[in-house]
Amino acid sequence: MTTHVHTAPLTSDHTDPEPPEWWRQAVVYQVYPRSFADADGDGIGDLRGILSRVRYLADLGIDAVWLSPFYPSELADGGYDVADYRDVDPRLGTLDDFDALVEALHAEGIRVVVDIVPNHTSNKHAWFQEALAAGRGSAARARYIFRDGAGPDGSQPPADWVSVFGGPAWEPVGDGQWYFHNFAVEQPDLDWSNPQVRADFVHTLRFWSDRGVDGFRIDVAHMLTKDFVDPLPSQAELDAIPRDGNHPMIDRDDVHEVYAEWREVFDSYDPPRTAVAEAWVEPSRIPLYARAESLGQAFNFDLLEADFDATQFRRIVTDNLTLAAQSGSSTTWVLSNHDVVRHATRYGLPDAERGTDGRPLRKHGNEWLLSGGTRPELDAAAGIRRARAASLFVLGLPGSAYVYQGEELGLHEVAAIDDEHRQDPTFFRSPGEDIGRDGCRVPLPWTAEGSSFGFGDDGAHLPQPAWFADLAVAVQDGDPASTLALYRRALALRHELQTGEALTWVETGRHDVLQFHRPNGWTVVTNFGTEPFDLPADADIALSSGPLDGRVLPGETTVWISAR
Ligand code: GLC
Repeated sequence: MTTHVHTAPLTSDHTDPEPPEWWRQAVVYQVYPRSFADADGDGIGDLRGILSRVRYLADLGIDAVWLSPFYPSELADGGYDVADYRDVDPRLGTLDDFDALVEALHAEGIRVVVDIVPNHTSNKHAWFQEALAAGRGSAARARYIFRDGAGPDGSQPPADWVSVFGGPAWEPVGDGQWYFHNFAVEQPDLDWSNPQVRADFVHTLRFWSDRGVDGFRIDVAHMLTKDFVDPLPSQAELDAIPRDGNHPMIDRDDVHEVYAEWREVFDSYDPPRTAVAEAWVEPSRIPLYARAESLGQAFNFDLLEADFDATQFRRIVTDNLTLAAQSGSSTTWVLSNHDVVRHATRYGLPDAERGTDGRPLRKHGNEWLLSGGTRPELDAAAGIRRARAASLFVLGLPGSAYVYQGEELGLHEVAAIDDEHRQDPTFFRSPGEDIGRDGCRVPLPWTAEGSSFGFGDDGAHLPQPAWFADLAVAVQDGDPASTLALYRRALALRHELQTGEALTWVETGRHDVLQFHRPNGWTVVTNFGTEPFDLPADADIALSSGPLDGRVLPGETTVWISAR
């Protein structure tokens, strides 16, 4: 017997937080604009495409949209190489399109968060072009990090540093000088000790805030400030320096001087603009970014690196609620984003052999190969079952939840992409080592048919696999068992469940079953194991991530039990 899930109309007894606090328990939906919807049929998603799907976003029940970069860019790093921070890439639209999108989202009560990429510009940015032309010692070069090369003729890099995407982190410009790029060659790092750099980003934050943007996601927020003292240390020496706030380039305490200035900008608006830090730092240092005097909130990425495992989940939840309390912020839950393997796939791969971010480390033909050298067996059905259970668990937690486009469709990572179609610099800079991030950035399927499954009229910039047809929005729409229906129902019910920012763990007597209460009496139970778990006979089950057998919770399933 399958337990009936009640579908009573949602009541309005929930209390929305005050407008300035909207972000504390918000569900923020990440749109990767080039892969969301393509209105002009050039194979690249655009702002008009997003505008045409505002109804979809409103029906999903999200509180905010975070737009990954849509600025002019050569796409050396999927738009995170920004050539102009205060404009729209012509392939994606115009500033008028942006204004129309903000207006339409706001009309639905959906806030808008945009991505700010302050660590580096594109090498096509006017400043970098000026720096190349102006030559050594110029004020234009002082906005970036230039050094003379080593060796008598400057033909050697200033240091042996390796970039985050692989390969050398210093690039020669042909006149004996080299510039530093933490990421791709096309992403020269800015020098944040330069007052012009600081002033320009304040200008950018005001530019978007004035256009009605509600908040900002700050890219690699922990890397802006640097202290490179000559002679530069070697990579081995850099690696050995503790990350305690004084490391030459990672998570330096002085980065918060930048954010204190930004805070004045954010707070000069009504309601104050929000920010969330993408900071890959030691957990104990997260509160520095999440403090109200700094950015106000920081991503907690712990679940990206965790297995589908009760012990790991419980520890991560407890630790992050503690960290959030320390900073006075709310925590953020992230299961997928544009940088990691989709969680449906992570949970379908063997735990022990995954790369640290879930990405298998090598490729073989156009398939992936795990770090152990074996071919992974993807258990697709288990992956999606666990992903649904994990998502429902996370959406029941206090704090804000970030949903990455396509996870509400239960999309798997697209592993098989031919080399000639790959775009991610991590793939090209580590040949044969890293399959890259393209597999989670494949354009969404909206319909089961069409040249790009309804994404646009003329193909998609990354090839979509045939199996996308089964997961299209049009196919899931109206199917109560679909992952889309699960997300819609969860986000609607979340308004009732989500009061107060606390939880109480309930001991279940099982190491693989987690149960917690929310202050208003709602209960979430997740069975991470495979043995069924008995729920109380009178449990009023509001939602379940999979089929139930009476009041028995099968393995790899989550239920929400209402307070009524
Ligand atoms: C962040 C982004 C990632 C990008 C990198 C460099 O980690 O999420 O996509 O490649 O910064 O900008």
